[in-house]
Amino acid sequence: MTDTGNEYSKAAMNYFYPEIVMENGFIWEDRGEKKGRLKVAKAIQINEVHENIDTGELSFTITFEYNGQQKGATLRRADFQRNKIIELAKYGADVYEHNATQIIKHLRNEEAKAPKNRVHQKLGWDRYDNQLVFKHYKAIGMDSTYSGTLAIQPKGKYENWKQAVEKWVMGNRNLELAILIGLSSAVVGLISSVTKIDSLIFHIFGKSTHGKTTASSLAISTFGYPETNKDGLMQTWMSTQNAIIGSLVGNFGLIFGLDEISMSDSLDFSNMAYYLAGGKEKGRLDKESRLKETGAWSTTIVSNGEQALTSKTNHNTGIHMRILELGHITWTKDAQSADRLKSTIFHNYGHAGPILAANLLDRGQSKLYRCGRIGVVKLLSRCMDKATFPKESPKSWLF
Ligand SMILES: Nc1ncnc2c1ncn2[C@@H]1O[C@H](COP(=O)(O)OP(=O)(O)OP(=O)(O)O)[C@@H](O)[C@H]1O
Ligand SMILES: [Mg+2]
Repeated sequence: MTDTGNEYSKAAMNYFYPEIVMENGFIWEDRGEKKGRLKVAKAIQINEVHENIDTGELSFTITFEYNGQQKGATLRRADFQRNKIIELAKYGADVYEHNATQIIKHLRNEEAKAPKNRVHQKLGWDRYDNQLVFKHYKAIGMDSTYSGTLAIQPKGKYENWKQAVEKWVMGNRNLELAILIGLSSAVVGLISSVTKIDSLIFHIFGKSTHGKTTASSLAISTFGYPETNKDGLMQTWMSTQNAIIGSLVGNFGLIFGLDEISMSDSLDFSNMAYYLAGGKEKGRLDKESRLKETGAWSTTIVSNGEQALTSKTNHNTGIHMRILELGHITWTKDAQSADRLKSTIFHNYGHAGPILAANLLDRGQSKLYRCGRIGVVKLLSRCMDKATFPKESPKSWLF
């Protein structure tokens, strides 16, 4: 197929392969005055270039038309090879053995003009160009956006969350503690950026309708979606170990929750508790049953259920060192305030944690390094002591 019209865009001259142009919904190759233009394929655009700051890898979001429908796909830069690029055909892109080389050249041109964005999948504290940064939905300390699966994008308004906290949390030292448990994850992650520490595990246990899940959700709402029904920062104990660890890997500062221990079939939680606290993955398999690269995490984990976690474990004393059990507490004032608090935090979340992280990034790092994990535990346990609570009120952390 040739086209004798020879007016391809002058802008194309600035591209890597000026003989390849995209016009009128098609990709063309200019073969000189005599041969004219050859129609190569239907148009394929690169919309964005993503630089993954965790791995350094580049990938692209691309769009193309198939059967009257606009379709999209993600393409790694490593796939700019004939045998790999042809894989796009299965999604409907116009790429085949005979035009793969021209398509790769076209994509090189597209890459040059596409907007470039940094993305990350790891969460919490990390270093980039030797600078400390905090990775939430938007990274703090650099320009990067989360591209993983967890629902951590802030929703609603910080003001609404804050008003709910002022109305139903302040003055109730149990729920104030729940907020500190949530925020402590940023401190644990920060300490782990300079020295190896276990994750903090809190287990809230006691009778039904005492506000255990409400307290856990409140803790989690500081950093993300506090429910178990989406990819929130809370899962149920019913999730498989693989799924739980999969959500934790790469988390160095965002609280993570596990709801309702009775949903688990396990009778011995000691191995799981050691595993969660230890923060190092062992032999997890990917979807194709291949051994995945081992990952790590260091954060605060809040769990709840009717029974104590340690009662379900064997009698290993090490376990008591790793889990702070908070038992038989009525966390909420009454049913109505619990329900209203929950409904506000389900729609307004993910604001307070990044505010604290930004504060920690500005000041206070060196103090926290000195205080260590024991310091964090002491700080939190002092918060449970009524006499000293006002001094450590979350108000001074946040407002
Ligand atoms: N202090 C309270 N007094 C009475 N009812 C409450 C109180 N707190 C919460 N509830 C009621 O219990 C319901 C469940 O709350 P929540 O999930 O926080 O409790 P829970 O302790 O996790 O209970 P469960 O063990 O059944 O999961 C709420 O929707 C509310 O109606
Ligand atoms: Mg519950």
